[in-house]
Amino acid sequence: MASIRDVAIIMDGNGRWAQARAHKRMWGHIRGSAVVSNIVEEAVNLKLNSLTLYAFSTENWARPLPEVSILFKLLKKFLIKERNLLIKNNVIFRVAGDISGLPVVAREIIAETENMTAAHTGLKFNLAIGYGGRDEILRACNSFISTNPGQPLTQEDFTSRLYLNDIPEIDLLIRTGGDMRISNFLLWQAAYAELCFTQTPWPKFSQDEFRQIIEEVSGRERRFGQVLSNEEGSLKRSTNV
Ligand code: IPE
Ligand code: IPE
Ligand code: MG
Repeated sequence: MASIRDVAIIMDGNGRWAQARAHKRMWGHIRGSAVVSNIVEEAVNLKLNSLTLYAFSTENWARPLPEVSILFKLLKKFLIKERNLLIKNNVIFRVAGDISGLPVVAREIIAETENMTAAHTGLKFNLAIGYGGRDEILRACNSFISTNPGQPLTQEDFTSRLYLNDIPEIDLLIRTGGDMRISNFLLWQAAYAELCFTQTPWPKFSQDEFRQIIEEVSGRERRFGQVLSNEEGSLKRSTNV
C-alpha cells in the first residue's frame, strides 16, 4: 500500500464552471474559495503531513486586473474567516511563492496568519501564490550560486532553498477541472508523484471525492524505478518455462 502523506492540488475550473451557469468567472472563484476549508478539514481528518494548494501562478498575473483583484480580495476574506479553523485544527499555514506584487494588506494578513499558526504541529497547509515551478528552481539555483560561487550544487543544497524546504517530495498531485497538465506547479517536487486528473471543477470538489482519490491512489504500487522482489520472482519463473 502506498502511503500518501504529502498532497498537492491544482484548483482549476472555477471560471468555466461559473460561465457554464451563465455567471461571471468571479462567481466561480467565490464558490471555489468556499471549498478550500472543506478540503483542509478533510486533510486534517486523513492525517496528511501536508496539503499544498495552487491558488495563483506566476502566469496568472497576465489575467485581467479586475479578476486578479478579486482573487486577492477572496484570499484576504478566506484567511480572516478561517483563522479559527486553522487554530482549532492545529494547522500550520504558509505561503509558497513570490508575493511581493500582492497588495500590502493581503501581505500583512498572510504574515499574521503564518505567525499565528507557526507553533502548531499538525497539518502543513500551504497556499502557492505568485508561484511558478521554474521561478522556484531558478531562485534556488541563484541563491546557491551567490553564496557558493564555482561550487557544484547537490540535491540537498537545492531542496533546502525551495520555498517549502521541508516538503521535498509530493506523493499525489490532483488537478480538478478536466485539463491534464501541471501548469508550472511543483516541477521538482512532483518528480515521482502519483497523478490524478478529475473532471470535477474545483467549486464542486467534495470531501468525499478527495477521500476516494486518496483511497484509490493508496492502492497503487509505487516502484520508484525499481523492480519489486515478488515481481522479480514471477519474472524468473516465467522465463524458466
Ligand atoms: C482556477 O480556476 C483558479 C485560478 C487559476 C486562480 P480558473 O480561473 O483557471 O478557471 P478555468 O480553468 O478558467 O475554468
Ligand atoms: C493553474 O490553472 C493555476 C492555478 C490553479 C492557480 P490555470 O487555469 O492558470 O492553468 P492553465 O492556464 O489552464 O494552464
Ligand atoms: Mg484554469
